[in-house]
Amino acid sequence: MGNDAGKLITILNGPNLNLLGRREPEIYGHETLDDVAVACAEVGRALGLDTELKQTNHEGELVEMVHRARDTSAGIIINPAAFTHTSVAILDALNAFDGPVLEVHISNVHQREAFRHHSYVSLRADGVIVGFGTEGYPLAVRRMGTLLA
Ligand code: DQA
Repeated sequence: MGNDAGKLITILNGPNLNLLGRREPEIYGHETLDDVAVACAEVGRALGLDTELKQTNHEGELVEMVHRARDTSAGIIINPAAFTHTSVAILDALNAFDGPVLEVHISNVHQREAFRHHSYVSLRADGVIVGFGTEGYPLAVRRMGTLLA
């Protein structure tokens, strides 16, 4: 699992999150995904966890990233973005992952359109952070520290 530097946490992000910081900042804030990666690495370091953050706009690629994590990672933090509400394939991939899975949504999806209220991924997630802005990601890393202790 990973390397001797510490347990690896893979942080996966779905479509349009590459635009974080520039995309609808009134909903998603001004932090970029690079800022999120730095904040997660900092929290992870304090807990002896390595973190790697990835993003893709493609559903199949997200599935393959989950498959790869089976061999490399102790836990997965995932914001599947719009695929949250549509993708049985991502749910199935996560069901084939043995470690803890935490789901993060930057916005409060329950305050938004009805189609955002249902998450396939929540059927697998060990915990869900919703509506904490980008602060939700480092909070999820902190929780991984507890779950993997
Ligand atoms: C999101 C919420 C989803 O409904 C939306 O499609 C996103 C981002 C969030 O982080 O708040 O792209 O997952």
